[in-house]
Amino acid sequence: METADRLVPALELRGISKKFGRVTALEGVDLTARSGEILAIVGDNGAGKSTLIKAISGIYRPDDGEILVDGQSSTFTSPADARAAGIATVFQDLALVECLDVSTNMFIGQLPKKGWFVDRKRMDAESRRFLDELKVTVADVHTQIGMLSGGQRQIIAIARAVRAGARTVLLDEPTAALGVRETKHAADIITALREAGNAVIVVSHDIEFVFAFADRIQVMRLGRVAGVRKTAETTREEIISLITGTKQEATA
Ligand SMILES: Nc1ncnc2c1ncn2[C@@H]1O[C@H](COP(=O)(O)OP(=O)(O)OP(=O)(O)O)[C@@H](O)[C@H]1O
Ligand SMILES: [Mg+2]
Repeated sequence: METADRLVPALELRGISKKFGRVTALEGVDLTARSGEILAIVGDNGAGKSTLIKAISGIYRPDDGEILVDGQSSTFTSPADARAAGIATVFQDLALVECLDVSTNMFIGQLPKKGWFVDRKRMDAESRRFLDELKVTVADVHTQIGMLSGGQRQIIAIARAVRAGARTVLLDEPTAALGVRETKHAADIITALREAGNAVIVVSHDIEFVFAFADRIQVMRLGRVAGVRKTAETTREEIISLITGTKQEATA
C-alpha cells in the first residue's frame, strides 16, 4: 500500500460541512478515497453517512469545504456534474426502468444508433461484455428489470455506473435489503470494481461485511469523523467504540 499512499487520491474531501436549518449533519469532514481500494463508511443512525454520500454525488451542496477529484478542486451543482467527473452513486432505490430490459437500462441516455435506429446488436453485445467483466450472471440481457430480484437489480445498477465511465463508485447500504446469496454477489461485484481500479466508497451497517471487504474504515459520529483505520490494523471492538463514542478499555 505504500506506493498507493503516495498517489493523488481519486477523491478527497476537505472540511465538508452541511447544515439543515439548525441541524448540523456534517462538520469539517475529511475523506480520502484511492483507486483500487474499498473505503467503508460506518456510524450510528443519523451520523451523517447518507448526507456525506449526497454531498459527494452532487445532490446536496456543502455549506463549506472542498471536493477534489484527481487532485482538482471541483464543484458539483447537480448529480449530472458528479457523474461527468466520474463519480457514480448507487442508492438503495436504484432508478432503473422496470419495464425495460437489462441491456436498454445499461445504455439509458446513451443508446447506440445505427442510422435512425437503436443498434440493438451492439448494445446487447456490449452489455454482455460488461456483465461478464463484472462476473454478473444474468442469463439473458433481454430480461425485463421488473423480473429481477433486488440484488440482481443492484448489480445491474452498479454495472451501468461502471459502463458510464465511473472511476469512483459510491454505494449507500448496498446489502441492507439483500439475502445471503445476494450479499455475497454484491460483495463479489464490489471486489471486481476495486480490481478494475475504481475507488469504491461503501456505507454499511454490516460490520462483518465491512471487515471482510473494506481496506479502510472511516467512522462517522454526530456529523464528524470519529476515526479512520486500516482494516488490517483495527478490531471490531475499536470500531464499535468509535461508533458509540465510548472509551476503549485497556484491558482485554
Ligand atoms: N434533508 C434533510 N433535512 C433535514 N435534516 C436532515 C436531512 N437529511 C438528513 N438530515 C439530518 O442530518 C443528520 C444526518 O443524517 P443522515 O441521513 O446523513 O444519517 P445517516 O448516517 O445516513 O443515518 P442512517 O444510518 O440512519 O442512514 C440527521 O440528524 C438527520 O436527521
Ligand atoms: Mg443513511
